[in-house]
Amino acid sequence: MKDIEQQISELMAKMTLDQKAGQITQPEREFITPADVKKYHIGSILSGGGSVPGDNKPDDWIKMNDEYWAASMEEDEDHLAIPIIYGVDAIHGNTNVIGSVVFPHNIGLGAAHDPDLIERIAAVTAKEITATGVDWTFAPTLAVARNSHWGRTYESYSENPKIVTEYAPRFVKGLQGDFQEDKVIACVKHWVGDGATLHGIDQGDMCISEEELRKLHVPPYKAAIDAGVLTVMVSLSSWFGEKCHGHKFLITDLLKKELGFDGFVVSDWDGIDYLNDDYEEAVVMSMNAGMDMFMVTEKWREFIGHIKTSVENGRIPMERLDDAVRRILRVKYKFGMFTKPRPAQRKMSLQNSCFGCLEHREVAREAVQKSLVMLKNDNDILPLDKNSRILVAGKNAHNRGHQCGGFTVAWQGVNDNETVASSSYSDKDTVSERDTDIEASYDTSNSKIVGGTSIWESIQKVAPNAVLCIDGRDADPGKQDVAIVVIGEVPYAEMLGDIRVEGLAKGLKISKGSTSRDTLPGEDIPIMKKGPYGTHLYLHQLHPEDIETIRRITSKGIPVVTVMICGRPLVVTQELDASQAFVVAWFPGSEGQGVADVIFGDMDIQGKLSFSWPRYDDENLNVGDENYDPLFHYGYGLEYKK
Ligand code: BGC
Repeated sequence: MKDIEQQISELMAKMTLDQKAGQITQPEREFITPADVKKYHIGSILSGGGSVPGDNKPDDWIKMNDEYWAASMEEDEDHLAIPIIYGVDAIHGNTNVIGSVVFPHNIGLGAAHDPDLIERIAAVTAKEITATGVDWTFAPTLAVARNSHWGRTYESYSENPKIVTEYAPRFVKGLQGDFQEDKVIACVKHWVGDGATLHGIDQGDMCISEEELRKLHVPPYKAAIDAGVLTVMVSLSSWFGEKCHGHKFLITDLLKKELGFDGFVVSDWDGIDYLNDDYEEAVVMSMNAGMDMFMVTEKWREFIGHIKTSVENGRIPMERLDDAVRRILRVKYKFGMFTKPRPAQRKMSLQNSCFGCLEHREVAREAVQKSLVMLKNDNDILPLDKNSRILVAGKNAHNRGHQCGGFTVAWQGVNDNETVASSSYSDKDTVSERDTDIEASYDTSNSKIVGGTSIWESIQKVAPNAVLCIDGRDADPGKQDVAIVVIGEVPYAEMLGDIRVEGLAKGLKISKGSTSRDTLPGEDIPIMKKGPYGTHLYLHQLHPEDIETIRRITSKGIPVVTVMICGRPLVVTQELDASQAFVVAWFPGSEGQGVADVIFGDMDIQGKLSFSWPRYDDENLNVGDENYDPLFHYGYGLEYKK
């Protein structure tokens, strides 16, 4: 058999400039038809979070991918058959798609400290992706988040590179395996230092030395590259003011030459737009810095035009374009794309019955069990007796959408079990500003999370004497022995999850959909009206309704066990003081049952903080810092008495 490099050379010898320019181009699905794929020789397409075909079932995805694939594989005198690759954000399960299993977000997995589990999660995710005819996911995120104000903190396994570096190769292995039919191409992101920006501003500026960059942020990538990861996505942030998307040292010298990465580098969502006001200049800068594939969601025709002119006039050397094309083709050959049947005829498409199946959900349930961290357990109130008379309250008690967080069905996440959740807002005074915004800002239609259980549903299954009252008004010590109050954050993604102190809020840049549309794929809300999540990390100010619900119940003399849904450590001194026990559940995903398993003692509680927990908003301490004295240190987590 000819070796891959030889096959690539033979194919490239036949490729025209048009075909090469198309091969490095990745439009968003809303802006490209199968006919365009053939006409412009497009190499890849993506779905932005929440950008979905038809009714958003696996079959709709297979049909769409089949059509794009067929267009890319037509061979005639103007067109070469080169299979297209389709990319999605399956960052905690294939969660764009209705009915997929939803795993805990990475921050919870970091607390589980279990690399074997990580590989199994990635393997299930790969299966659920292949069930939709897709070949590539923009995961895992290898951010080492160093400031919890960052809206993407939950995408990070830990503030400590040790855990991220341990997980990176396992996740890559679980996704890619040996490129069998139930595997997908992985993409580690966002190269590099996305979790290191000043004030935790999304897409902000990383002001750290090269030494610190190499010590804290590069090691996870090295581990992933050594494990054979095929693609890397560049960060939308900057290093001392210079955008990573145009950073030759970071992309070519460090990533490709020094770390020996021989797959392809993809830009993030319209990321080259910010390099220069002159788009042609931006295209040239990024290409010459070493970018190989370009996520140019809507302006892809313009992009192709600039690539062609700049190669023709010599501003982009032909060798650079050839290198980019070779890298993309190398990934396609290595992954076996040229010999795979069309998406509709792949084994995983024909037998996609395991999509969202119980076997997959069991892995997610185990992940939830292992990710819970107990911060307080006075008088050993936990685990609870299943026969206790239990009041279940709190706005996140019965809302599968809330517990899944961002990047679930819609980019910003969804609000599910809406009818019940809204009863918590019955008292106008308890509604924080944030909640009114949120009501208007994300998808509030019901039944978006199909399968799994809310935390209330999971408690109800095992505790016969439990009742639900979201705002806690029915608290009655004559009727209840204890309350479980589920509080915390509501879903968010990227810059809309930032906590930005006053003054910094103004600098909010929204890259998605902001160029020509004022709504996002799959969402009918005008995104430009949204702002960051808040201005500080104090939960009692972000969500005053939570402490009010807790106090409403404790004032009647009923002890409260608090379960917190969140994507980062928050300052929760008041809520902690008012609770007899306090458990952090992060964004656990669809399998709420994992929470009940632990609270009632069927499983031990074993999660340990992979992030330091702050006493005040302004400390921003990470393990190893000077004067390190957080409220709960890295690695903290109580266990049940044996
Ligand atoms: C995010 C990436 C994501 C991409 C595609 C960007 O806004 O930064 O993490 O993969 O969109 O949805």
